[in-house]
Amino acid sequence: MASSDGGSSAPKEVPGSYGLPLVGAVRDRLDFYYFQGQDKYFESRVERYGSTVVRVNVPPGPFMARDPRVVAVLDAKSFPVLFDMDKVEKKDLFTGTYMPSTSLTGGYRVCSYLDPSEPTHTKVKQLLFSLLLSRKDDVIPTFRSNFSALLATVESELAKAGKAEFNKLNDVTSFDFIGEAYFGVRPSATDLGKGGPTKAAKWLIWQLHPLVTLGLPMVLEEPLLHTFHLPPFLVKGDYKALYKYFSTAAKQALDTAEGLGLSREEACHNLLFATTFNSYGGLKVLFPGLLANVASAGEKLHEKLVDEIRGAVAEAGGKVTLAAVEKMELAKSVVWESLRLDPPVKFQYGHAKKDLQIESHDAVFQVKKGEMLFGYQPCATRDPRVFGATAKEFVPDRFVGEEGSKLLQYVYWSNGRETENPSVDNKQCPGKNFVVLVGRLFLVELFLRYDTFTAEVGTELLGTSVVFTGVTKATSGPGS
Ligand code: HEM
Repeated sequence: MASSDGGSSAPKEVPGSYGLPLVGAVRDRLDFYYFQGQDKYFESRVERYGSTVVRVNVPPGPFMARDPRVVAVLDAKSFPVLFDMDKVEKKDLFTGTYMPSTSLTGGYRVCSYLDPSEPTHTKVKQLLFSLLLSRKDDVIPTFRSNFSALLATVESELAKAGKAEFNKLNDVTSFDFIGEAYFGVRPSATDLGKGGPTKAAKWLIWQLHPLVTLGLPMVLEEPLLHTFHLPPFLVKGDYKALYKYFSTAAKQALDTAEGLGLSREEACHNLLFATTFNSYGGLKVLFPGLLANVASAGEKLHEKLVDEIRGAVAEAGGKVTLAAVEKMELAKSVVWESLRLDPPVKFQYGHAKKDLQIESHDAVFQVKKGEMLFGYQPCATRDPRVFGATAKEFVPDRFVGEEGSKLLQYVYWSNGRETENPSVDNKQCPGKNFVVLVGRLFLVELFLRYDTFTAEVGTELLGTSVVFTGVTKATSGPGS
């Protein structure tokens, strides 16, 4: 199914239009943010040109991006061209057609902006693999202590106010959880105090503001967020405080880094980025999205998860072990399905390394060396030609069983197929297994503790917002 250099039919020109210089890009940016919204923006262009590979402008456009023009790959078949390191170069395009100032990352181009052909990419990715491996036995206990405390707070807020906002609690808990899981030191127990998540969120906004809307009137957001970069000096103090935590808490990882040929300083900026941007930024979106899907699926799914999770834990002598978690097939499918339906990182980019042909379901297209390729992931992972009539629905057991597992190759959230693995030679997320594990641990914690729960689901800056409105405490099994 992957795109190839060849194809049976003659290659076509990619259809689409960029409009007039400057005006076209600004007009499209307004469509993207205000008049159509992301999904409609791409879906309407697929419809207009009768093609899932189209030429479009992507935000932010003027004056932050030199060139907003891309070739968008918008189905499950054409999208994986972005994973092929022989075909695309991934230098300086983690955030797309603009790049945040390196003064936000200590003057370094951190791993996410490096192409695998750059030697530092190999060293940093190796460092992250060895960090995750060295801490693997700490993940489950650390997750459980942090997230059981979160649920205890949910219960006390429900008792007091009849509702509990999950996102706020998740931000505080995920930040501490990751710090403790990776380095054995809770950030809130250091000089950073309780300010870590806010400092981190501010620093994230400084890098992502060109791509978001805060829901403010267009006349304010356009000049403030989408036209010029926010000045890095305004977030310098926050970054310095975060850096201090990493330079002391991550001593052991920094020793490993030196052994791999990295300076402590470059390694520390990279650890800060991988922990705060990649991991914390990821969990900020992952858990609310997963919780929302599970809440909306209702009591029937909750009952099935309760049975599976409590059964596996009881079999493991009442302990949450990795082996027990591996037996939870439905829970794993639920996590994958949530990542498929709502991939937390929706945009991927790559420059064509050479003249290429890209194959969609219907045609083969010619692309020139140097052109920017872009994937809007939801269009690919909700492709009805692969996932059928229910492609846009949350189907909890979609990936269960032999038939279900055949669909995993079309799950792309990690910037690679779910059936493939990250390595120093590709740009697939090194946190892939960690993310699917913590997703399952989140369900384990929830359904050891509750038979069912209710929540209200909405939207917020980076994704979904969830407010718990009620929980029913466990009546049987290891959680009661
Ligand atoms: C790369 C998603 C968690 C570290 C990526 C990419 C995606 C992604 C889509 C590729 C970006 C691109 O090049 O276009 C996610 C999501 C996460 C998550 C959705 C959580 C829900 C993590 C975690 C780590 C991590 C826990 C911790 C190690 C990285 C790094 C890269 C990366 C370092 C760059 C890889 C490279 O340069 O080869 N991630 N990630 N991510 N991710 Fe994750």
